[in-house]
Amino acid sequence: MNKIFYTSLFVGVMLISNASAAMKEKLNKPDFTQESLSLMELINVRHSERAFNPQRPIDNQTLSEILWVAFGFNATGKRTIPTARNEQKMNVYVLRKNGVWLYNAKENQLEKVSDENAIPFTVAGGQDFVLNAPIHLIYTSSDERFGEMHVGSAYQNVYLYAASKGLATVVRGMFDRDELHRVLRVPNGEMVLAHQPIGYPY
Ligand SMILES: Cc1cc2nc3c(=O)[nH]c(=O)nc-3n(C[C@H](O)[C@H](O)[C@H](O)COP(=O)(O)O)c2cc1C
Repeated sequence: MNKIFYTSLFVGVMLISNASAAMKEKLNKPDFTQESLSLMELINVRHSERAFNPQRPIDNQTLSEILWVAFGFNATGKRTIPTARNEQKMNVYVLRKNGVWLYNAKENQLEKVSDENAIPFTVAGGQDFVLNAPIHLIYTSSDERFGEMHVGSAYQNVYLYAASKGLATVVRGMFDRDELHRVLRVPNGEMVLAHQPIGYPY
């Protein structure tokens, strides 16, 4: 009897811990040793690009670095972007076909918010080119006064990283705000502010 009880308990615990592991995805540390154009050259070539190659996925290292440049913690112990009073009021979500994920910079991991494919909700104004991008960042903030400034710093960092890696990206202000608010389970008072699809060009 005891044996059956403890075996079932063990199996239950394993199932629960596997389920919660599936809800988290560890990210890699950024690689600071990569060769790249200089900062001046990157600013010189930064641009918006709207054609994404749907056949070319983004690997985990690249995704990890995209998130880190957007809103990771840097060598100062603070964020890669400045924030008002260092309150760090911004969140970055990742949309992929396999669901919606919230970037947890402290744990350097993605945490699943939903299994729903929310990418179609980023289409607006007839801009269905976004459907070809493998990775979509959604920036949110609860800071009514400064949130958009935080987002601007983050998307510019991502633009520069994209320029260094030959990635295509464009920041967008057009999307289905209500549907994204719902599927991202954004807390009350937090605003969905910008969308940034990222992929490789053709
Ligand atoms: C706040 C903001 C919102 C934007 N929204 C869109 C958008 O919804 N769709 C789009 O294709 N581009 C959008 N853009 C990108 C601009 O069109 C682009 O930055 C501009 O044409 C200049 O091109 P460049 O980024 O290559 O310098 C947006 C840019 C900003 C800063």
